Amino acid sequence: MSDMREIEERLRKLREEIEYHNYRYYVLDDPVISDVEYDRLMQELIDLEEAYPELVTADSPTQRVGSEPITAFEQIIHSSPMMSLTNSYSLEELKAFDSRVRKALPGEGVEYVAELKVDGLAVSLTYEDGYFARGATRGDGTRGEDVTHNLKTIRSVPMRIRYQNPVTVDVRGEVFMPRREFRKLNEERRLKGEALFANPRNAAAGSLRQLDPRITASRQLDIFVYGVGNVSGVTLGTQMEVLDFLRECGFRVNPNVKLCRSIDEVMDYAETWNDKREDIDYEIDGIVVKVNSLDQQARLGSTARSPRWATAYKFPAKQGTTVVKDIIVQVGRTGTLTPVALLEPIELAGSVVSRASLHNEDIIRSKDIRIGDAVVIEKGGDIIPEVVKVIPERRTGNEREFTMPTKCPECGSDVVRPEGEVASRCTNETCPAQIREGIIFFASRDAMDIEGMGPQIVSQLLKSGLVSGVDDIYSLKFEDLVNLERMGEKSAENLLNAIEASKSRPLHRLINALGIRLVGERTARDLASHFGSMDKLSKATYDELISIPEVGPKVAESIVAFFGNPRNLEAIGNLQAKGVNMVEPRADASAQRTNVFTGKTVVFTGSLERFTRKEAEARVLESGGKTSGSVGKKTDYVVVGKDPGSKYDKAKALGITILTEEEFERMLKGDEI
Ligand code: IVH
Repeated sequence: MSDMREIEERLRKLREEIEYHNYRYYVLDDPVISDVEYDRLMQELIDLEEAYPELVTADSPTQRVGSEPITAFEQIIHSSPMMSLTNSYSLEELKAFDSRVRKALPGEGVEYVAELKVDGLAVSLTYEDGYFARGATRGDGTRGEDVTHNLKTIRSVPMRIRYQNPVTVDVRGEVFMPRREFRKLNEERRLKGEALFANPRNAAAGSLRQLDPRITASRQLDIFVYGVGNVSGVTLGTQMEVLDFLRECGFRVNPNVKLCRSIDEVMDYAETWNDKREDIDYEIDGIVVKVNSLDQQARLGSTARSPRWATAYKFPAKQGTTVVKDIIVQVGRTGTLTPVALLEPIELAGSVVSRASLHNEDIIRSKDIRIGDAVVIEKGGDIIPEVVKVIPERRTGNEREFTMPTKCPECGSDVVRPEGEVASRCTNETCPAQIREGIIFFASRDAMDIEGMGPQIVSQLLKSGLVSGVDDIYSLKFEDLVNLERMGEKSAENLLNAIEASKSRPLHRLINALGIRLVGERTARDLASHFGSMDKLSKATYDELISIPEVGPKVAESIVAFFGNPRNLEAIGNLQAKGVNMVEPRADASAQRTNVFTGKTVVFTGSLERFTRKEAEARVLESGGKTSGSVGKKTDYVVVGKDPGSKYDKAKALGITILTEEEFERMLKGDEI
């Protein structure tokens, strides 16, 4: 490509294509290409832009996380004020809102649009002639903070609007953090001994108000848009049309919107969603009701702070008041001691709450929580509720302060609190609590995903001596399981199948599952894609590790220490011997995953030079094939290494296709051989 025009054309096409795939993935949740193909397009764009930096445009997908940290937030004056909503807390108040609306519009029919009130933070996105120009937080409603650099990192925010003609528009929406992301982020912070976010809303706000867009990018925020401020270039008559228009422009609009002919329908909607609120992956704190007709909205007008044509119905509070009966300490898988408040049971948003995590000593001190205190508790994004605050007026003088134990409550070993960290830890690596929690984590959904192997089963397996480390999981037999309490034949069989299935998880899951301190899910992925195999990772030096951009000195130290511990190496050796996969499916190989060895059986003979036998077998599995230990009529390929055995002769005799190691590797890459 020497012609400049050709290059510009290619760049334009790449950008358009990548943004289209962002749209498919992040807005429609319906990708049409694989991650690998997407990465390939992105890499081509990055390479071309590096070669021709003068051709980089502001709306290029590479610029989403491209900008350098800013030093301070600029103020932005909103083109039209970002108003707030009046709140209704009961269905009566909702009815009263309807009466006010009808009274102001005598004789007219009124339709309402009911929407979910997503709990995040309000933002305004300004598009000029179709291009994303800037975005701001709500601030005081008149002026907010310029967070353009961070909003660009949200992939569901289009860099350019796809509409028939270029429009200039202020789009309003709510930035939020999905629950799953929130849990992951807090888990990572817990591992690092960092302060936790109280709920997804705080996490979203904290993430959007970062000076460095790289931090925001790592937080996986999302957005639902629900309205427009100023708009030119289109005529819109109703709120439903506004939402359709926004959808057509490529924005993410919440699909759970309902056009209601009466306030009773709105109330049904509110009740339905109050029941279903835990079923969706983001928090909602109520619903928003809007008069559908924009003409009626205009005639209803606004007060100084809020429109008369809309109101928020807030779900019954998830807060309540109760008493801290005691504060106990739990030991986690990394030895972290977590203080937990035992509460006088109280019903909150439909379930009984009897404990709340207090996270660490510093939080207890800063909130001044004492045993015996009356407290306000809240159910946030986590299943575990939070103590919001103490009610000091209800103190009697009999409350007791909490002190962190100096000995581990499970094993009696010394407890330390490392300099600069908020967490206290048990120093005994073989602490039974650490082992138990470690095994529970190993089997959990985000790790090896062994369905049916929850805390109760793990405790039973430990108690009966069947398991003393994660590697023992793979020696369990039907007879072992079926004799456990409350375990039937069917569930024993299911559990065995789940254990078997977990052997073929990709390496990053295994790395995460091992529970190396400071290594969470993301770092595990980075390590797996960098090293490709457990063998290479376990031999990596400190210098090699910190040369990986995502790995800092503390993480590198922790990894080196983990693999320096003979007990860990032994467990990994055992896992490998029992058939647990130790390699990461390679990006280029997985692109071909569905076709190269689909339905084929491959046999290896002789010693391979480029792969260990296990790696080679794993690659066949990833590419859809099977491996076998012996050559037969059903064998499709025999891969021949150095000094092959009798399998080679048999393959020749049966006329089976024989591959050299290089040919095998080329096939994996999808090349012709
Ligand atoms: S409409 C003038 N619709 O609730 C009307 N707001 O005080 C402006 N919110 O933080 C708001 N979901 O960002 C509207 N579907 C929705 C909403 C919604 C969440 C937030 C909004 C603001 C607060 C309103």
